[in-house]
Parts: sequence; structure tokens; C-alpha cells
Amino acid sequence: LHWLYSPQTAHVPDCTLSSKTSTKILYEIARFKSDVSVAERLQVYRETSMRKVGIDSSSSKVDPTILWPPESVRGMKLLDVEAFKKAITVPIAEVKISHIGIVLTVLRKYYLKLKHFAIVEDGPEGSDYKIVLLHPMTFTENEEQIKTKLKEVCQEFGKIESSSVVKFCNRTIELNYDHFDCKTILRSILPLEEHGVAGYSRVGHIIHLNLKEYIIPYKNIIGSVLLDKTKGVSLVVNKITTIDDSDNTFRSLNMEVLAGEGTTVTTVDHNGCSFTLDFDKVYWNPRLSTEHSIIVEMLNPQDVLYDVMAGVGPFTVPAAKQKKCQVLSNDLNPSSYHWLHHNCEKNKLLDRVQCYNMDGHEFIKNILKVDLLKRWNDPDFNGTIHVTMNLPSIAIEFLPNFVGLMADVNAQDQLNFVEPLVHVYMFSKDQKASSCVTRVAYYLGLVDTLTDFDGQITAALNAIYNPEGHKGNQQVSVLTDADLRDLSSGKLLDKPIDIPG
Ligand SMILES: C[S@@+](CC[C@H](N)C(=O)[O-])C[C@H]1O[C@@H](n2cnc3c(N)ncnc32)[C@H](O)[C@@H]1O
Repeated sequence: LHWLYSPQTAHVPDCTLSSKTSTKILYEIARFKSDVSVAERLQVYRETSMRKVGIDSSSSKVDPTILWPPESVRGMKLLDVEAFKKAITVPIAEVKISHIGIVLTVLRKYYLKLKHFAIVEDGPEGSDYKIVLLHPMTFTENEEQIKTKLKEVCQEFGKIESSSVVKFCNRTIELNYDHFDCKTILRSILPLEEHGVAGYSRVGHIIHLNLKEYIIPYKNIIGSVLLDKTKGVSLVVNKITTIDDSDNTFRSLNMEVLAGEGTTVTTVDHNGCSFTLDFDKVYWNPRLSTEHSIIVEMLNPQDVLYDVMAGVGPFTVPAAKQKKCQVLSNDLNPSSYHWLHHNCEKNKLLDRVQCYNMDGHEFIKNILKVDLLKRWNDPDFNGTIHVTMNLPSIAIEFLPNFVGLMADVNAQDQLNFVEPLVHVYMFSKDQKASSCVTRVAYYLGLVDTLTDFDGQITAALNAIYNPEGHKGNQQVSVLTDADLRDLSSGKLLDKPIDIPG
């Protein structure tokens, strides 16, 4: 879409899109493009509604607004369900009971399916026909074709005139709030010049919104509609940005309740495991599931994982449960620790997972170090060692803890030296792998400043063992892993350097 809007785009290559795809694109453009006029946006909504039911908007005269809420609800800020009532005239078919089966084979495609309305109902008492509710757009659009088809099937069936078994007429029905879906209601309420509700995520019974400034006046009605219309949801909250947001150590969300009530403790399924967490007090991001599973997929049963900033356990729990790894898992936030422990207990993993509640620096220098030494001392240990540090704002600052961490270890304690693989997360403005690696090199003490690095990293993460041996141009070891992933897509970024060896 970025590409489509770009004023520099001189030429848009021809492409064939399915009707579904082009509808979606048009809809998204209408939602996000800032310079779309109100009339244009309305037109896109009309076309979207028509395409949805398979009508070519360029040649059709049917009116899609017939099935929308009344225009008078636009701008509503507090939910008034009465205002959604609307009488509309729709086509119906009166079909002889004796021939209902054959007639419905033709009409089925043109049903009007509305919640709380029967599509086929009995006629008046004593009558010999049933009433079929038909879609005011698709039936009207195809009326002649439908009648011809009915004639044919009735002839084929028993040489009867279709007009003797089916009669078309109109009926007035009343639509109300219950008949409209969430998207249609929000689209009808919000001002056309605004971009719609973006930034939505669902965590168990909670909907979490990150509403943009322009939509804030509508936050209460958005909350009420989402609550009413989303099955299984009993709480709708909105992220609020506060002055000390950047200093939010535990990465939990500041939020306000928009609609609903009850606990913020919820249970979610994530990568095949069940997690319970207090959404108000801990960090939880359903969008990280791909990243979590990428790491878990790297693990094997004999491996060890040190999860330094574990949250409530999205790396830890599947690593122990699905891959049967030993995990030492830590989080500084007491609430995260509580739910981490709870999730391990609930999944019967406490024989494989040890949980800690301390600062990550201390965890690396004490707990991780002692356990790593234990593995190095164990002649039977034949696994891989992984460290996850997912705290993108500052995780990289924890790397210096690894430099010289094991420098005081005696040679006889290294029976089974295994190089740990550290997965460190960071934010990257330019998405360039090379600048990320430069930062890693700096925090590992391989370069003195962030700007003067132009050589190759030849030591990378085995600096944990003997950093002195890997400095400068001394090519003592090789960079064993320099994969950088874009977290939003899970895709690898460009290879930063030529990896020797
Ligand atoms: C971005 S969350 C990641 C949680 C989890 N690993 C995940 O992938 O969803 C970062 C976590 O680091 C924790 N944290 C913040 N500072 C920490 C520190 N100094 N030591 C250990 N954990 C810390 C926060 O409480 C939070 O749970």
C-alpha cells in the first residue's frame, strides 16, 4: 500500500487481482490514505459492499446502502441502539410447499442471511406456500436470469409453469443493531474523514486497542460495539501513553478500560501451549508468536535454554514442553515471574524449568555462569546452549556480561566446552543487519566506538570464553551465527558480512 500511495510511483505495473484481493486493497486504501475525500471513501465503501456479494459495481444500479445502518448514526459517541432501527423493503418469494425443493435449488444463492431472521418461513396459516427472504442486492441484480432459470427447472422437473409455483413480491422488514456486524457498525459511526480503527489485538477475553489521537473522541462507542459484537470478549481496553512510558521497565501496558469489566487475568493459547497472565501487569504480545516458534524450532531435547528476560514464558514453556529442553528462566518483574512459574507448573514442567526473579545482569553473572560450568563439566552433555534476551530496548547492554564471564574457569573444568548461542533482540531504525552487528561488536568489546567499526567480526559470541584472543585482526575463531531476523515478518535480513570459515 505504501507503494501504491507513493507520489513517486510513476508507473504501476499491470496485475491481475482476484475480486477478493482488490476489494481488500480498496478497503485498506480508503481506511488509511489520508487524502481520500469523503465522497471517494463513501464510494469505495459502496463498491466494497457490492463486490462482497459478487456484484460488478461499474455496471450495477443496486443500492448497497440499503443494508447499512441509517446514516443518522454517523458521529455517534455513546451507543444508542435504538438509533440503528431501519425499515427496508426486500424481495421475497412465495413458493408452493409441493415444489419448494426444486425452487430453492435456484434461489439458494440469493438468500438474505440476517441474524435473527429465518430465511425460509411458513406462509399465513392455512396457506400452501412458504416465504423465502431474498437479498435486495443480489436478487435485484439477477432477477431476469433467476426467472429464466426457474422456468427451465420447472419445465424439466414436471412440465409446469414456474409462475404457478413461485410468486415474487416485496416485504418490509425492520433492521436493528443486532443485525449489523461490528465492521459495518463502526464504519457507519466513525466520521468518513477518519481512518477507522487500527491497532487491534485480542488476548484471551480482552481486546486491546491502540487508538490513534483522531479517534479518541469515539473510544467509548468503539469499546461498546467491540464488546457487544465479539464472541468471548468481556473487556475492551485502550493503550494510554504516559510521560514515563519510555521508562516502563517491565514493558507492561498502561491502559484504560473502554468497555466491559472484570479481571485482566486471562488465558491464551500461543504456539500450542496455554498461558495465563495478568495483561495489566506483564508484557504479552501475540504478534511475536512467529519469533517464539523460530527459536523453539532450533532446540533439541538435549539442549539448554537460558531465558534471561522470559516474561510469562513464551520461549520457556514450549522449549520445555515440546522440545523437552532444560530451561533456566528469569524475569525481573515479580508479576511476570509469578505467571511464568504458574505456567510452568500448570504445564507440569517444573522438573525441567527453574524460574528466577532477578535482574538479568545478575542472572547471567551468577545463575547462568554456574549452570554453564556444570554443563561444561558433564562429560555426557552433548546438547547446544541457547540464551534468549528479548528486551529490544536494552538487551544489547547485557552482552558485556558475557565478556570474560568464564575467564576464571580452570582448564580441567572444560571437559565439554560448548559455545553458547545468544539470541539478542534490538530495535533497528534502518533494518540494516550491518549496523546491528556493529552494535553487537561494540558491546562485546570488539570495537572501541560504535562509529569506527569497519572490519570483520571474527569472534562474535565465543568472546564469552576468552575475549582477549579474539580482538583486532587476530582471526582466532569464526562468526558462527550472524542471522538477523526482522521480527515483524520473521524473515532474515541481509547478510551483514562475509562469514569466514
Ligand atoms: C519485551 S518483554 C519479552 C518477554 C518475553 N520473553 C516475550 O518474548 O514475550 C521483556 C521482559 O523483560 C523483563 N525485564 C525488564 N528489565 C529486565 C531486567 N533488567 N532483567 C530481567 N528482565 C527484565 C520485563 O519484565 C519483560 O517481561
